Amino acid sequence: MKKIPPIKKAVFPVAGLGTRFLPATKAQPKEMMPVVDKPLIQYAVEEAYEAGIRHMIFVTGRNKRAIEDHFDTAYELETELEAGNKQELLALVRGLQPEDMHCSFVRQPRSLGLGHAVLCAQPLVGDEPFAVLLADDLMAAPEGGPGVMTQMVDIFAGQGTSLLAVQEVPLEQVRRYGIVAGHALDARTLKVERMVEKPTPQAAPSRMGVAGRYILTPAVFDSIRRQSRGEGGEIQLTDGIAGLIATEGVHAYLYAGKRYDCGSKEGFLEATVEFALKHPEVGASFRAYLNSLAR
Ligand code: G1P
Repeated sequence: MKKIPPIKKAVFPVAGLGTRFLPATKAQPKEMMPVVDKPLIQYAVEEAYEAGIRHMIFVTGRNKRAIEDHFDTAYELETELEAGNKQELLALVRGLQPEDMHCSFVRQPRSLGLGHAVLCAQPLVGDEPFAVLLADDLMAAPEGGPGVMTQMVDIFAGQGTSLLAVQEVPLEQVRRYGIVAGHALDARTLKVERMVEKPTPQAAPSRMGVAGRYILTPAVFDSIRRQSRGEGGEIQLTDGIAGLIATEGVHAYLYAGKRYDCGSKEGFLEATVEFALKHPEVGASFRAYLNSLAR
């Protein structure tokens, strides 16, 4: 039996311009927008860390310095907090970079699509399977259960083929997603037979939409390179993964948990309200406030 390597690296494509959130994203990366008190990118990094991943690879672009700074030591801030004996805040700031976590940054020089962004990470990923997390999809773990990436790493350990997190989406929204179709192996896993990026409702092979979580084998790099420009004239990750269906096989996994599309204003607001309601510090008072509005 072939030995399935563990997932040690995660790629975070963060070079996008965030035009849907202008003017907020004019001078700051969209991944730094906070849901309550944590930037989106931090939720994604924590999800990967929980899954046992220790090497975080950010594919960045212009205007993304804030992301590098966020995961770097902040000497002035830490010195001030230390001097003021603000131990709790100090622990919070230092907790952002656990000793065993390593961050790398690579630039995507031009916006040529998600597939291209993933290719930019190849020299850092090398010849091993890796995770991809799109930070504007904020994934809440099921109550008391493991995060979505932890669930996926567990499944990958059993089959070793590329794995995509999917959810059922309304037919009128298939145009926003990579859509997969295949046959069910059990209640939560599918063997993928077809995959298309952002089809029209008429052309969609199913309503299974890819959420922004992937575990990919290194064969995906060559497969991305072999594809011609796809949807929107971009080098699509979906097309690269589709190229693996006939060779290695690809699986899709109906994850447990809830996804918030924080690339859209509605999704971002929903996440903000729901995370605020669960927040240990402000949850109770925020609930009382919302109730006062409803009256
Ligand atoms: C990207 C992918 C798409 C996937 C989606 C999930 O699209 O290309 O296949 O379903 O993320 O959020 P984007 O949202 O970047 O347009």
